[in-house]
Amino acid sequence: MHIHIMNGPNLNLLGRREPGIYGSKDFESYFEELKAQFPDDELYYFQSNHEGALLDYLHDIGFSPCGIIINAGAYTHTSIALADAISGIKAPVVEVHISNVYEREVFRHHSYIKPVCVHTIVGKGLDGYAEAIEYLKTSPEA
Ligand code: DQA
Repeated sequence: MHIHIMNGPNLNLLGRREPGIYGSKDFESYFEELKAQFPDDELYYFQSNHEGALLDYLHDIGFSPCGIIINAGAYTHTSIALADAISGIKAPVVEVHISNVYEREVFRHHSYIKPVCVHTIVGKGLDGYAEAIEYLKTSPEA
């Protein structure tokens, strides 16, 4: 299966950013581990701090046969445009958050993208991305 992992703003700082919340591993190292864990799948990784770049990427890949995993970072809580892009494409999208957003500030409890994603995983650390891949590989929606 072709699976695109997308990380939004500030997630390029994983490993250095608030390690008590997000852990001390950078995503590039974790992505190598994921590729080894799922050798039969084609995994792609895209990160951007820019909302429009995330939209463009979704538009580019979202009509091809694939699954998408997105950690939209803070845009989760602000972006109707991202929600519209996800509902406008064909590919199934799984929402992932490294931290448990429901146990943090109230403004992190609401996700604009949750209703348009096929599944949401929170608070599993980086393992949430592996769980999202498993979900896409086994879900009937995907
Ligand atoms: C996050 C949670 C968001 O609230 C936050 O803005 C992030 C990371 C997470 O992975 O836990 O940037 O999406």
